[in-house]
Amino acid sequence: MTDCDDNNRLSAQTISYRAAKRTLVDRLSVTLEPGEMVALIGPNGAGKSTLMRLLSGYLAPHDGQCVLHGQSLTAWSRQALARHRAVMRQQQHITFALSVRDIVAMGRAPWPERDTQRIVRQVLALTDCTSLAGRDFRQLSGGEQQRVQLARALAQLWQDEGPRGWLFLDEPTSALDLYHQQQALRLLHRLTRQGALSVCCILHDLNLAALWADRMILMHSGKLVACDTPAEVMTAPLLTRWYQADLHIYSHPQERVPQVALRR
Ligand SMILES: Nc1ncnc2c1ncn2[C@@H]1O[C@H](COP(=O)(O)OP(=O)(O)OP(=O)(O)O)[C@@H](O)[C@H]1O
Ligand SMILES: [Mg+2]
Repeated sequence: MTDCDDNNRLSAQTISYRAAKRTLVDRLSVTLEPGEMVALIGPNGAGKSTLMRLLSGYLAPHDGQCVLHGQSLTAWSRQALARHRAVMRQQQHITFALSVRDIVAMGRAPWPERDTQRIVRQVLALTDCTSLAGRDFRQLSGGEQQRVQLARALAQLWQDEGPRGWLFLDEPTSALDLYHQQQALRLLHRLTRQGALSVCCILHDLNLAALWADRMILMHSGKLVACDTPAEVMTAPLLTRWYQADLHIYSHPQERVPQVALRR
């Protein structure tokens, strides 16, 4: 099987999900390609986190199916799925005293026989967490915790010299400073260019999304309303319509991608 094989894609096929009599995801179809970096965008409550839970197999759709390697996610064992995809959630509550090193090592649970210490050291370095390794996770700042969670998710997918599989990230840069936003997105982008990692990332910062994503998926009211390159999705008519914000689109002065600015 090659990376271009149809089987290697992750596809949602007309999926719907309902809760408390509300339709959170409404007959949505989308295909994620291997090696791609996709940004999932849309206003609050659009259904982004719910879609991510469906695509990663934490929720089962009421209608339709999500298919990975030719098999419905509901047919995958938890163990096998844990070796193929990792998820970094929007919120993570850790109540026990655990060191950063322990939290990241927990990501290795699906691979108990592999070289845990070496991989933990490697992902801590990649995420600028080496100096935090011995600290109690609960005592870290919000941004530091977010970097550790990214390290844990990368550790889960690590095989041999790098991460392989599908990485889902729910607003991974929301608490990061400028330097760490850039470092995190550069890292994810670089890892996808190596070919073995695919990233699906929820971002509210559309300028970051346009800089790094190959495609942007725009959701509104549980539906997919646009799915294309940043040049096609980051347009004033589309964003004004779906976000209801008063905004201006301009071209990044160096990177030939659209950027958005709010009007006062
Ligand atoms: N278990 C649930 N029962 C009822 N409604 C729910 C449930 N979970 C989520 N919702 C509602 O479904 C909608 C979509 O939620 P979701 O968390 O997917 O949105 P989101 O696009 O990730 O938003 P945000 O940008 O604020 O994180 C919201 O209106 C939310 O209130
Ligand atoms: Mg969300």
